[in-house]
Amino acid sequence: MAKTCIVFITLMALSFSLLASAFDEQPLQDFCVAKATSPVDVNGKTCKEASSVTVNDFVFAGLHLAGNTTNPAGFSATQVFAAELPGLNTLGISMLRFDFAPWGVNAPHVHPRATEMITVLDGALEVGFITSAPDNKLFVKVLRKGDAFVFPVGLVHYQRNVGYGNAVAIVALNGQNPGLVSVPSTVFGSNPAIPSDALAKSFQIDESTVEVIRSKF
Ligand SMILES: *[C@@H]1O[C@H](CO)[C@@H](O)[C@H](O)[C@H]1NC(C)=O
Repeated sequence: MAKTCIVFITLMALSFSLLASAFDEQPLQDFCVAKATSPVDVNGKTCKEASSVTVNDFVFAGLHLAGNTTNPAGFSATQVFAAELPGLNTLGISMLRFDFAPWGVNAPHVHPRATEMITVLDGALEVGFITSAPDNKLFVKVLRKGDAFVFPVGLVHYQRNVGYGNAVAIVALNGQNPGLVSVPSTVFGSNPAIPSDALAKSFQIDESTVEVIRSKF
């Protein structure tokens, strides 16, 4: 009787583990070109009818063009996500071009849904990421033309041009919509704002300093 019981429990456990992995992590069709006008929200974009897909749905033109870095950060990102390149919908990959004026910075930020790889095409970039608590260890390196670097998913990271000319980089992410949580603009530019006294206490500064920083975002 005990033996039958053990066999039964084992079979139950096995069937639950099979159930738990009974879904498709990979695309179920050759492609799912994003339908720009669909009112339906799924986890990604709904697919355009296959018969109306053309080769242009898989093309993005313009990564040879420098972004406009005339802004306080001296930085510009040109994104190639599902919105810009509908053919990459559901494929788990995306790309950007980064342009940096001299000493331009891509402020500390997080991509909640993707690991990022960067490769420098021109100039010298200081890049770094910070591990989670309690260590908060900074891994930092100056990259030169041809160097590649990886920022693990979910970690705060930044890039800064430490050269005297412009810097250019290409970035790849393993998500079609990696998400961006910029530390300065989420903390000091949220809508509505985090109460000033909470930020003052959090950063160990006075409220007037909070207001000064907030006014920039
Ligand atoms: C770049 O951006 C600045 C600030 O928004 C703007 O004044 C300038 O006209 C832009 N330059 C180009 C070439 O678009």
